[in-house]
This record gives sequence, structure tokens and C-alpha cells, in this order.
Amino acid sequence: MLAAVPSAVSACVFRREAPADAAAIEAIHEATFGPGRFARTAFRLREGVASVAALSLVAERQGQVVGSVRLTPILIGETAPALLLGPLAVLPELKSQGIGKALMRRSIDLARQDGHRLIVLVGDLPYYWPFGFRTVPPGKLGFPGPVDPARLLAAELVPGTLASVGGMVRADRTPAA
Ligand SMILES: CC(C)(COP(=O)(O)OP(=O)(O)OC[C@H]1O[C@@H](n2cnc3c(N)ncnc32)[C@H](O)[C@@H]1OP(=O)(O)O)[C@@H](O)C(=O)NCCC(=O)NCCS
Repeated sequence: MLAAVPSAVSACVFRREAPADAAAIEAIHEATFGPGRFARTAFRLREGVASVAALSLVAERQGQVVGSVRLTPILIGETAPALLLGPLAVLPELKSQGIGKALMRRSIDLARQDGHRLIVLVGDLPYYWPFGFRTVPPGKLGFPGPVDPARLLAAELVPGTLASVGGMVRADRTPAA
């Protein structure tokens, strides 16, 4: 009889990102996105802004950080608070074993529990659809750089939130309480 092989996701511990994880996360970003990541509009929105500590998670396997998701505070139209999700990344050698989905589920659940209303991201709709992300109507959100409109997605944690906001998106540099 074949012994059950534990999947990568079941061998992972999911926990909040800690400052000591920064180098390991940076290495995953380099391996998954390469140097082009620095030119992305989403990267520029996050630059110099602390991610939300309570929502930014890592997957750790055998003491090694193998996946990460970050959520960063943004303001839409100057005043409406929302979250920007990303980067979401998993070490290439462990991809398609459920780690990305597990990070997504956990961070979105925490965001909802903490009373957040809207999450925006730039990514592939087929991957993010099961988590409630839909394409943002054209022209609704403006960004400080180019964004492919087909990849601009939002998930309403409180139904109707997207309809009530609009305008330029910028980093929320208000220090966290
Ligand atoms: C995308 C990523 C985070 C997914 O995490 P993961 O742990 O590898 O994937 P999961 O196990 O959660 O999900 C795997 C499923 O998602 C699908 N998938 C992965 N990337 C996808 C994409 N970009 N678009 C659509 N589907 C995708 C896989 O085909 C697989 O489908 P299946 O379950 O039907 O077999 C990871 O592969 C990664 O780091 N990729 C490079 C960086 C990146 O593209 N980040 C996301 C920015 S949009």
C-alpha cells in the first residue's frame, strides 16, 4: 500500500509576517517576479508604506518561508480607505500545491473580521475569481501609472462598497493606529 504523501500546504504553518521574514520574502519576489517588479504600478503604490501587519501572512514549511501575501492600506478618491493585495507569491518549486489559495483565504478572512470593506489588486481574474474578485468597471479607479484594465480587480467585503467609491488610488501614508 502506498503511504500518503503530505501535501506542501498541509506541511505549512500560516502566521503573520515578522520583520525577520523580510529577506526571505524578498528572495521569493525575486524568484517569482524578477527585477521587473520594481517598475510595476502596484509596487510603486506600496513603496515606503508599511503593509498591514495583522493581515500580511507567510507560509512557513520546515522553518523556511515559502509563500507570502501582503495587504497595504490605500485611499481611493483621497478619502475612502481600502486595501491593496499583493504581492502574493509562492516559491516556484512549491507552486500549485494550495499554498497561494491558503494564504488568500486566510488574509481575506482576517480583513473581513477586522472590518475592512474593499480589497483591490492587479492580477489574473481566473485565479482570484473564487475569492470574490471581479473586474473593476473601466474608468472607476485611477492609478499613478499604467494598469491593464482587464487585470484590475476588486473584492467587496461589504457588498456595495465599490459602487460608493471612485477616483485616484494612492498609498495611505497615515501611520497605523
Ligand atoms: C500565482 C501563485 C501565487 C499561486 O500560488 P500557488 O500556491 O502556486 O497556487 P495554488 O495552489 O493556490 O493554486 C493553483 C491553481 O491556480 C492556478 N493558477 C496559478 N496561477 C494562475 C494564474 N496566474 N492565473 C490563473 N490560474 C492560476 C493553477 O493553474 C492551479 O489550478 P488548479 O488548482 O486548477 O490546478 C504562485 O504560483 C506564484 O507565486 N506565481 C508567481 C507570482 C504571481 O504570479 N503572483 C500573482 C500575481 S497575479
